[in-house]
Amino acid sequence: MKVAIGADHGGVRLKNDIIAVIQELGHEVIDVGCNCSDSVDYPDYALPVAEMVAKGEADRGILLCGTGIGMSIAANKVPGIRCALVHDLFSAQATRDHNDTNMLAMGERVVGPGLAQEIARVWLSTEFSQGERHMGRLRKVSEIEQKYISTT
Ligand code: RB5
Repeated sequence: MKVAIGADHGGVRLKNDIIAVIQELGHEVIDVGCNCSDSVDYPDYALPVAEMVAKGEADRGILLCGTGIGMSIAANKVPGIRCALVHDLFSAQATRDHNDTNMLAMGERVVGPGLAQEIARVWLSTEFSQGERHMGRLRKVSEIEQKYISTT
C-alpha cells in the first residue's frame, strides 16, 4: 500500500516512529511533513494527506498532532475520508473491522511511541470485515456526506 503521513509540530517526533512501522510492513511512505520544531497549523498537513487518500493517490493516511483531535476533525471534512482518532489497540482493530477507516489520527502528547507504533501496526494490518450491517451503516454515513455536498 501507499501510506501518506503528515504531522504538525506537536506530532513530528511520532511521525518518524510511525514511518518506521509503515516501512517495516513493506508499504510505501508519502511524507508531506512537517519536519519542523516551529509552530505550524495542523489543517495545512491534514488536507494534503486527506486529499491524496480521497483521490486514490494513497491507500491510507496517518496524521499526528499533539492530541490527534485537530487532525481528525480537519481530515473528516474531506468527502470520502473516514478518519479515526485512536489511542488503544481495541479501537485500532475495531475501526478497520467495522468502519473501514481510511485514515488514522493519533496524539503524540497522549500515547507513548511504543503503543502508537503497535496501534499503527494493527490498523494497517486489519482488513474491513465487509459485514453487511457495517456496509449498510457506512452507506448511511456516505448519504449524510452526499446530502451536505449537494446543498453547499
Ligand atoms: C498544537 O499545540 C496542538 O494544538 C495540536 O498539535 C493539536 O493537538 C490540535 O488538535
